[in-house]
Amino acid sequence: MLRIKVPATSANFGPGFDVLGVALGLYNEIMVEKANGVFEFIWEDDSGNVMEAPVCAEENLVLTTMASVFNQFSFKCPGYKLWSKSCAIPVSRGLGSSAASIVAGIYAANYLMGGKMTKEEICALATKFEGHPDNVVACIEGGMVISAVGEDGEVTSSQVLIAPGLKLFVMVPDYKLSTHMARSVLPDSYTRADMVYNVSHVAMLVTALCHGDFSKLRVALGDRIHQPYRLRLIPGAEAIFEICRREGSLGEFVSGAGPTLIALVPEEDTNFAERIRPKLETQVLEWKTYELEICHSGVSLEVI
Ligand code: HSE
Repeated sequence: MLRIKVPATSANFGPGFDVLGVALGLYNEIMVEKANGVFEFIWEDDSGNVMEAPVCAEENLVLTTMASVFNQFSFKCPGYKLWSKSCAIPVSRGLGSSAASIVAGIYAANYLMGGKMTKEEICALATKFEGHPDNVVACIEGGMVISAVGEDGEVTSSQVLIAPGLKLFVMVPDYKLSTHMARSVLPDSYTRADMVYNVSHVAMLVTALCHGDFSKLRVALGDRIHQPYRLRLIPGAEAIFEICRREGSLGEFVSGAGPTLIALVPEEDTNFAERIRPKLETQVLEWKTYELEICHSGVSLEVI
């Protein structure tokens, strides 16, 4: 039996649209076992009680991903039992829930096929299924990752070693925003000035994070590719950024396609959350908050 634990991820990190992703310490977990003639999906709550699956098997992204992998390799799967053990990653909130399901599904299928795929092949296939590499590659590799997709679909990635001293304050509103919808509001093309703006800011962001030069984060998080269009889809986002700024955050951004917002906070600020939470309660939407660590290891696999 294989236990697969997949982290949440935050893509883009301001200007790094479809390029930067970071794995976070919030996880989904599945277990998969080879079986003959059985195709069983068991949904368990955190105490191990079997629940009614909230979606039918055909709609479950882990299962549909497994079917696509089998199809890709023309593998006739003799059967499996799959348990969804713990699902902490909020769905359709910009925290990589679909990337986590895709990565879990590919690793589960690979296990059932006898481990045919290399990590590079897994990254490329996950990117193909997801449509962009930032969440899936960070989910696989852990930490913050830069991904570049070549003409042939090959994914090259490089980890950004973030200097110590930062924590992420994650604010998740009580409504979903589909990535499809949040991509549909983006322009098809950008001016050269906007491209220069983003290239300069993402390059600055990477060095500021690596060198611990956190005073540059506010400038470096500037973005003209996606956030100016997406902020309109998240009621109260700009007011919340302003609240975080006044309380001492070093920079704020939309997580992935939204609607989750993230503020970067100095590690030594031990009561940032306590100062912000009452202010979030006055906003139109309800917000659930997390203080999350970076997950440095990415997907973890354990044969049991
Ligand atoms: N880079 C993607 C986007 C992440 O911003 O659309 C979505 O999960």
